[in-house]
Amino acid sequence: MSQRPPVAASGKQVAGRSAYLILHNTSEVATPDAEGRTVTRQPRGAIVFRGGRVVEVGPAGDLFRRHPDARPLNANGKLVTPGLVDCHTHMIFAGHRAAELQMKLAGQSYAEIAAKGGGIRSTVADTTLANDEALEKLLARRLERWRANGCTTVEVKSGYGLTPRRELRLLELVSGAAIRVPARVHRTALVLHALPEEYDGRREEFVRDVRDGLLDEIQRRGLAGAVDAFCDPVGFTVEECRAVLSRARDLGFEVKLHAEQTARVGGARLAAELRARSADHLECASEEDWAALAAAGVVGVLLPAAALTLGQRLPEAAMLRRGGARVAIATDFNPGTAPAQSLLECAVLAGRLCGFDATELLLAVTWNAAHALGCEAEVGHLSPGAWGDAVQWECESLEELPYWMPAVRAETVLVRGADLALPAVERRVWP
Ligand code: NIG
Ligand code: FE
Repeated sequence: MSQRPPVAASGKQVAGRSAYLILHNTSEVATPDAEGRTVTRQPRGAIVFRGGRVVEVGPAGDLFRRHPDARPLNANGKLVTPGLVDCHTHMIFAGHRAAELQMKLAGQSYAEIAAKGGGIRSTVADTTLANDEALEKLLARRLERWRANGCTTVEVKSGYGLTPRRELRLLELVSGAAIRVPARVHRTALVLHALPEEYDGRREEFVRDVRDGLLDEIQRRGLAGAVDAFCDPVGFTVEECRAVLSRARDLGFEVKLHAEQTARVGGARLAAELRARSADHLECASEEDWAALAAAGVVGVLLPAAALTLGQRLPEAAMLRRGGARVAIATDFNPGTAPAQSLLECAVLAGRLCGFDATELLLAVTWNAAHALGCEAEVGHLSPGAWGDAVQWECESLEELPYWMPAVRAETVLVRGADLALPAVERRVWP
């Protein structure tokens, strides 16, 4: 039922905008409040959607009385939450690096693997060889999989192009794929990921070309809402990242940073200085770094799949609570460090490894993740006026959501208050 679009009398799909729906017979509706401070729980609650947005959440009896014309949709006694938000993925790439994982497990270092032709550059080669249509279809299929897993908002970074020309191609393809799938897609240009071989020995020139050429072109073509950089000894220095990201910010992009992943080099502080939307990874961040993020209102994004693959520890929830920063969890989906295809699965892992409770985990994959993308006013909660993105899960209570392994399934996924593939005219690329 969840996958089949409702069909109007004419036989045509019902447009998302016109749907007037009451989702009822839930076990509970659990959602962050509009400010993302707490999770409110409405036992046996109902939700009314109209025009793609949430009208209200409340006791079913009251809502049926107030909305007699709304089409009922039975939640079959299951838990309903907002659609999840995956705020960090590298979803546009071809090929995979399964053999590399075996090499890693056999004790070979990242540098050794790269020297044998592995690493980021090998994915860049596969992605460059793939034709446009194949790549766009692959990305659309991945987005559909995320939606089916309950993620209604997904960030997609470029980054496996490296040269300005190839990065622009990937961002164009992301925009193309985004309109095929009924999910919100936030496009981020990961402009400093690795030095392309075309620029070997010309590092300064590369950073200059990105700062003074690529950013303007991305802006001119409207290809991304945010700009990201890999601030790391195996990526780019704090100074290089500052040069590019401060220009990006001046051009009006949101900025984000891969920070303190393989070593602590000052990325978290740079994110705080730039008032970045988020600092992501943070496996090597200190308690002071987390305090700096909290003070600057920067979301700290944990990526448990990458930490596990690289054999790193995740921070303790108790330390994070002391610091007070907002914490999000994301898949980091990429072929090298995180072949992770389920956000909820990543949250289940983080719950066990860090010590988060069910409420913290729900916030980490809804409101806080939306905040990391700058869309928390309308996404990541079911407050009146928010987009009607909601999931009915294969379980009955909030506590069960991060409990089952493998993670519970999404039974029904509503995007804009409709459980259908929206007609093309109803879709757009966010932001
Ligand atoms: O987020 N840290 C940089 N980028 C990716 C991994 C890239 C790769 O190995 O392909 C990450 O972990
Ligand atoms: Fe990443």
